[in-house]
Amino acid sequence: GLAVGAGALAATNSSASPAATPAAGSGDAGARTPLTALGANAHPFHGAHQGGIVEPAQARMLSTAFDLTPGTARPGLASLMKRWSAAAAALAAGRTPPGLSDDGSALDAGPSSLTVTFGFGASVFAKAGLTAQLPAALAPLPAFPEDKLDRRRSDGDLWVQVCADDGLVAFHAMRTLQRLAAGAATVRWQMSGFSRSPGATARPRTGRNLMGQIDGTNNPKPTDPTFDARVFVPAKTDPAKDQPAWMAGGSYAVFRRIRMLLDPWDLQSTDRQERVIGRHKASGAPLSGGTESTPADLGKLGPDGGLAIPGDAHIRVATPDANQGAAMLRRGYSYHDGFRPDGAPDAGLLFVAFQADPRTGFVPVQLKLSRADALSVFISHESSGLYAVPGGAADPDGYVGQALLE
Ligand code: HEM
Repeated sequence: GLAVGAGALAATNSSASPAATPAAGSGDAGARTPLTALGANAHPFHGAHQGGIVEPAQARMLSTAFDLTPGTARPGLASLMKRWSAAAAALAAGRTPPGLSDDGSALDAGPSSLTVTFGFGASVFAKAGLTAQLPAALAPLPAFPEDKLDRRRSDGDLWVQVCADDGLVAFHAMRTLQRLAAGAATVRWQMSGFSRSPGATARPRTGRNLMGQIDGTNNPKPTDPTFDARVFVPAKTDPAKDQPAWMAGGSYAVFRRIRMLLDPWDLQSTDRQERVIGRHKASGAPLSGGTESTPADLGKLGPDGGLAIPGDAHIRVATPDANQGAAMLRRGYSYHDGFRPDGAPDAGLLFVAFQADPRTGFVPVQLKLSRADALSVFISHESSGLYAVPGGAADPDGYVGQALLE
């Protein structure tokens, strides 16, 4: 990311002292508190891809689905995407968004690595008169065995993901976008997630989920030669692969609210928990040996002659090699929404996966997991969404979704 303001940039580069310069372009710069390196860090909104995909997960995430207000058609949707893009660009740079009186909830903070990601659900295309542009990849996900989906907390015409390293910054951004939607779209559902805060541990390593596992180890990495092909629709789209031209540089997001059945899980021995996933809990190393980054050896036998990584271990069943190379970038966050009437935590994983095509990414992997994964008895899929995430707005004159809507 880029730091905002010269002083802030200096603070990012030397951990010695906090920056003394307020956010560049702030409408109220004089009143601003100096930014810390964390607050000053900024991811530019404009680019070939939208933000919130390849950046390391921020500490906070808000995920909101909107439905178009009856009567909002293509021009209304285009105008909303323009307002949203302009606001997201300002917020990402630490500026007050144009077009409305600011609520002040993020006044003292810098952008804090804010990213905003916009997606289109399948239902929006008919409403906007764009059925000819509906990507084949947005076909409804199959009904997976064991799904317990709440449709009111699933789907939606539009999907907005806000991520930031500060809870107030994330709230301010989502609240601003909701206010800007007035008259055009209303909130269908919203969920809040969290992950480790920057600075909580000195060792830069993959975060943990609420089951205690190091989660994200074997994700595709931006340095992998196959990364772009797996995560993004190419800049030059291929109609033979059902890639509409307006999705150039885009991606598809699968969203799943997956509750963890933490009471039974926490009763399992560490040994059993490790066999369910196929990795050691403390280090994240595969049960076939090595460290967190050592590739799993799925053929290796243990001292008892059985597979070191059991046949139903999550990483064996989910691994791309077992699924014709299908891969996705998992970028989920934990959630905890209190306790259910039976006392069990209403907590788990807001699973978010980005991929070039869900028909070769999430779908075959989840079909396999839902039948063969040892983790299945400890989790429950409660809501689901699939969204076309267009490429980024390349410059300040453009907006996200322009190639579809103009
Ligand atoms: C790997 C946890 C759901 C796909 C992993 C790992 C953990 C984990 C701990 C090993 C570390 C890593 O490589 O990230 C969980 C939990 C889930 C869940 C707790 C539910 C609450 C899912 C779902 C999918 C999925 C729904 C996709 C349909 C994968 C893949 C890998 C993985 C592709 C990498 C496998 C490999 O090593 O090649 N998961 N996972 N996971 N998971 Fe999950």
